Amino acid sequence: MEFGCALPGEILPDWTREFGRAAPIELEIGPGHGGFALGHALAHPERELVVIETRRSDCELIRARAAAKALTNLVVLHGDAKLLLPHCFAPGTLQGVHVQFPDPWWKKRHHKRRMVDAGLARLLRRLLSSGGTVDFRTDVPAYAREAIATWEEAGFVNLDGTGMLWGAAPEVLSTRERRYSVTGQPVFRARFENPPGEPPPLAQRTGREWMDVRRK
Ligand SMILES: C[S@@+](CC[C@H](N)C(=O)[O-])C[C@H]1O[C@@H](n2cnc3c(N)ncnc32)[C@H](O)[C@@H]1O
Repeated sequence: MEFGCALPGEILPDWTREFGRAAPIELEIGPGHGGFALGHALAHPERELVVIETRRSDCELIRARAAAKALTNLVVLHGDAKLLLPHCFAPGTLQGVHVQFPDPWWKKRHHKRRMVDAGLARLLRRLLSSGGTVDFRTDVPAYAREAIATWEEAGFVNLDGTGMLWGAAPEVLSTRERRYSVTGQPVFRARFENPPGEPPPLAQRTGREWMDVRRK
């Protein structure tokens, strides 16, 4: 800031003012139709949930459903989470992050779009409070393996032991997960805690290189 004037992009939202109270803030990246976002916000009125979604129609759908349920602890941001995140939250201010069924981006030329990578993991180490948690879910086995390694390499503590999946059923299912709970499609879940301290130096691998067999 120069001469008391903020430059574009320099000011972070004041979430306490936005929500009208000081409460723990969680983030969901890519909520889709919002099954998790709406269920989680309803189940935890004591927390605030900010979701970031690229698809405008999904944002409008979630906002409409949140309004119908009179939810005041859910804010929907339209945009690319990777671009918006550093401009939305001050370091150490998030208590939880949910990344559920991120798009696999199967084509090699699209791998750079994969959500979970070393850069995101390091950024979230910074934005999460000490003790803040990551809730990661996917239906792609290789994504699960690679993402677990990526979160751990960034210094996150796997709450179920290094390299391990979380075996229990979550409190709230995402839209996609609800479908899988009916069809029996396997889901791979892992949860992590942010320890105090700085993340280690950036790894050589990006965490986006994995290959898997695409389901038909
Ligand atoms: C496969 S869907 C999963 C939706 C939801 N999490 C669920 O489990 O039902 C992935 C979602 O992430 C969104 N998405 C993809 N890239 C994104 C990005 N860079 N920032 C925010 N959202 C993104 C997509 O638009 C889509 O809604």
